[in-house]
Amino acid sequence: MTLEDHAGDVVGKARKGLGVAPEQVTEAGGFTAESYAKFEQDGTYDDLPDLVKIGELLDLNPGKLATIVSGWCPRAADLETNKTVRQITTNEGMEVHCYLAWDAGTREAALFDTGWSAEPILALLQENDLGLKHLFITHTHHDHIAALTPIRSQFPEVELHSSSPNAPEQQRNQPGQVVELGSLQITSRETPGHADDGVTYVLDNFPGFAPKVAMVGDAIFAGSMGGAPNHYQLAREKVQSEILSLSAETILCPGHGPVTTVAEQLVVNPFF
Ligand SMILES: [Fe+2]
Repeated sequence: MTLEDHAGDVVGKARKGLGVAPEQVTEAGGFTAESYAKFEQDGTYDDLPDLVKIGELLDLNPGKLATIVSGWCPRAADLETNKTVRQITTNEGMEVHCYLAWDAGTREAALFDTGWSAEPILALLQENDLGLKHLFITHTHHDHIAALTPIRSQFPEVELHSSSPNAPEQQRNQPGQVVELGSLQITSRETPGHADDGVTYVLDNFPGFAPKVAMVGDAIFAGSMGGAPNHYQLAREKVQSEILSLSAETILCPGHGPVTTVAEQLVVNPFF
């Protein structure tokens, strides 16, 4: 799976987050105006830009930025190792992932976002003989919740969880709350920035000591982070304190692009 963001996206997100003009990055990186515009657009360049100067200007780690520029691909994690967590990808002009996790004993399932379409979710539930007990929303951007209505009409009893201020009180995530899904335990960590109601869900206590899984929404991507032009510093701080503080082997499941781990992001992600 290709990365959600190429190097030009990474630099562009940092530039917009900090309110830096394109001309400043053009000069720091040794671009022409034209070649910088192209770099932000598609990540390509003719002459290797000065990543140290760009890093200094935009508070990005230059070594990690070089890793992304060199075409890094995540390889520390895939979901194949955990048979009770699945990624479901749908595409309606934009590709988005949602995730289904379940307890093998009770056959109770929890859905994390809905993506564009209910069909693949319903098929997966049926295939694995699962009942949908919980629906956790990482943030209320449309691509993540587009299939909310059909899912809820199919499962009227499903318990909704979100950090949206518009959600009824009893559906809102509470600090310290642990939701039990069979033997699995699900907790939430507020990760606003990309979205005001952004939240990360951590699944723990898998059988066989399988690593924790964090459903991060668009807070962090493999090699990048969700765009946060209005709350950029908050977004970075929350990813650092709430996600990258999880144990190193924790598998990060983003809404876009490939899965990764905390350890891998600490090594390659230029924002952190
Ligand atoms: Fe989003």
